[in-house]
Amino acid sequence: MTADRYAAFDDYIHALFVPPDPELEEALRASDAAGLPAISVAPHEGKLLSILARLAGARRILEIGTLGGYSTIWLARGLAPGGRLVTLEAEPRHAEVARANIARAGLAEVVEVRVGRATDTLPQLVAEGLEPFDMVFIDADKPGYADYLTWALRLTRPGSLIVADNVVRDGAVADPGTRDESARGARRFNELLAAEPRVTATIIQTVGAKGYDGMAVAVVIS
Ligand code: SAH
Ligand code: DHB
Ligand code: MG
Repeated sequence: MTADRYAAFDDYIHALFVPPDPELEEALRASDAAGLPAISVAPHEGKLLSILARLAGARRILEIGTLGGYSTIWLARGLAPGGRLVTLEAEPRHAEVARANIARAGLAEVVEVRVGRATDTLPQLVAEGLEPFDMVFIDADKPGYADYLTWALRLTRPGSLIVADNVVRDGAVADPGTRDESARGARRFNELLAAEPRVTATIIQTVGAKGYDGMAVAVVIS
């Protein structure tokens, strides 16, 4: 089966490029034990996020959708020395698990987990008038994505990187008639991103044990 071949190749990538990592593995174990859904990015995608953060020379990263903090740890590891990450999470229980995972990974001083719906916490961040973020990773509720892009543009600067997870959804996102609210949300997001003159963007399709999906990658140009 094709899906099995893709999953097997995940193992190959991980064996070569993602060495055993007690902190990340424990983050997944603790998330699972706490009953959180197994919807973190795959290890090779986490590594990609880390590489993108480095490439962006990120000193300030914003993540929307923390879950157990698995992607948060990968992103934070890609920060420049002295960098900081803010991650937004609506579910207090997820945030609690994430804080413990982040602390175990030695990143408690680097990462701030803010609890609340992103539609509330994003305007708060704008109101605080902070320095712009160098990278934004969007991975919360998909119907909110278009809105999150609008906020991300207010919180970044030319040269900043914006990445959004789950914008392919087994290909459902390309179907104008899809009834799946997540696919519809991703579809609205992709259309807004494509029409946005302040960014240049594309989508990377991904396969593997987590199924067929993909990430949008955009750089702010003005
Ligand atoms: N980035 C994580 C996975 C995030 S899953 C990783 O790859 O490891 C999506 C998360 O977004 C869930 O924890 C969910 O509770 C959170 N979420 C859903 N709606 C939200 C909202 N409106 N505001 C903030 N977080 C939200
Ligand atoms: C779902 C959410 C995610 O962020 C993801 O990476 C995979 C699945 C979901 O809500 O089903
Ligand atoms: Mg995701």
